[in-house]
Amino acid sequence: MGTLTLDLLNFCRTQDFLNPVLPKQNGRVAIVTGGARGMGYETVRHLASLGMHVLIAGNSEEEGLQAVKKIRQDGSEGKVEFAFLDLCSLKSIRQFVQRFDARGLPLHILVNNAGIMLVPEGATENGFELHFGLNYLGHFLLTNLLLDKLKGSGREGSCSRVVTMSSATHYVGRLSMDDLQGRLCYSAHGAYSQSKLALVLFTYHLQERLTAGGFPVTSNAVDPGMVDTDLYNNLCVPARAAKKPVAKMLFRSPAEGASTAILAATATELEGIGGCYLYNGKRTKSAGVTYQRDVQAELWKRSCGLVGLEDDPGTTASGICHGRQRRRVGPLPSSINNN
Ligand SMILES: NC(=O)c1ccc[n+]([C@@H]2O[C@H](COP(=O)([O-])OP(=O)(O)OC[C@H]3O[C@@H](n4cnc5c(N)ncnc54)[C@H](OP(=O)(O)O)[C@@H]3O)[C@@H](O)[C@H]2O)c1
Repeated sequence: MGTLTLDLLNFCRTQDFLNPVLPKQNGRVAIVTGGARGMGYETVRHLASLGMHVLIAGNSEEEGLQAVKKIRQDGSEGKVEFAFLDLCSLKSIRQFVQRFDARGLPLHILVNNAGIMLVPEGATENGFELHFGLNYLGHFLLTNLLLDKLKGSGREGSCSRVVTMSSATHYVGRLSMDDLQGRLCYSAHGAYSQSKLALVLFTYHLQERLTAGGFPVTSNAVDPGMVDTDLYNNLCVPARAAKKPVAKMLFRSPAEGASTAILAATATELEGIGGCYLYNGKRTKSAGVTYQRDVQAELWKRSCGLVGLEDDPGTTASGICHGRQRRRVGPLPSSINNN
C-alpha cells in the first residue's frame, strides 16, 4: 500500500474519537427520528443501553418493530418502542405529537436524525421539495410542536436537549430564500445541502429563543462525518460502485458516526450548552452564513408560514421571558471547544 494511502487512512482514523463514559439516563425519555436503521438505530441502541426510554419515530412500521426487537434481544437496560411518523406529511407529524402528548410522558431528548439524500425531484404530501420538506421542514414542525413538552421536562442543571443532524455539505449549501423549494433551478445536491444548511440556521435560532426565554432546553447541530449507510443508495450507479471500496476503508461505521449525536444528547460536559455545531465530539465553526441572525430569523419566519405555525412573539429573542429568569448558556469547557 502506498505511503499516501497509508497517510490518508491514518488521517481519517485520527479523526475518530472515543466518547467519554456517558452518564446513566434512567427515567429520561427520548425520541429519535429515523431510528430504525443507520445512525439513528445506533443512537437508539446506545441511549437505551444507558437506561433511557426511547421512541423510534419512523415511517416503516415493519423496520421499526424489527429494530425494537433487536435492541430488546440485546438486553438493553432501557425501554424501546416504535411510533409511526412520516416526516413527509405535516398531518402525520401533528398526529404523532398528539399521540405522544396523550401518553403524558415527559420528553428530555429529541434527536432530529431522519434524512434523505439525492432523491429524484419530488414533493412531499404538502407539496414541498422532498429534501427541504422532509429533512428540514418536517423537523422544524416536529420540534416546535414538542417544544412545550421539552421545556416542561428540563430543569436547571438537567436541560432537555434537541440534537439535529446536519452535514458537512451545509458548507457548500446555498439558501435561496425566494426559491426554497428549488422551483426555479433544481439540483438534488443543491437541495440536500440547502436542507442541511437550513437545519444549522434553525438550530442556532432555536437556541437564541430558548436562551432569551430562560428555558431549560438546549439545541445543537451535529456533523457525523462520512458514514457508510443506506443514505448513499440514491447515488448514480457508477458513483455507487466507486463509493463501495472507498467507504469500506474510509467511511465510519454507523456506530462510529452516531457518536457525536449520542454525546450531544447525553454528555455531562454539554450540560446547559447550546448553539454549537459539533463534529468529532468537538465544537467546530459552521458556515459563515449560519451565524447571520437576520438570515436565521427570516428562515424561521418563512418556515412558520409554510408549516402553518404562528410565530410566537413570547419566544423571540426580544420577547417576554414568561416570568422566568434568563439563563446564560455558559462557555464551552475546553475539552469540547475546538476553536
Ligand atoms: N451517512 C452519512 O455519511 C451522513 C453524513 C452527514 C449527515 N448525515 C445525516 O445523518 C442522518 C442519518 O442518516 P444515515 O446516514 O443514518 O441514513 P439512513 O441509514 O438512510 O437513515 C435515514 C433514516 O431516515 C428515515 N426516514 C426517511 N424518510 C423518512 C420519513 N419520511 N419519515 C420518517 N423517517 C424517515 C429512514 O427510515 P425508513 O427506512 O423508514 O425510510 C431511516 O431510518 C441524516 O439526517 C443524514 O442526512 C449522514
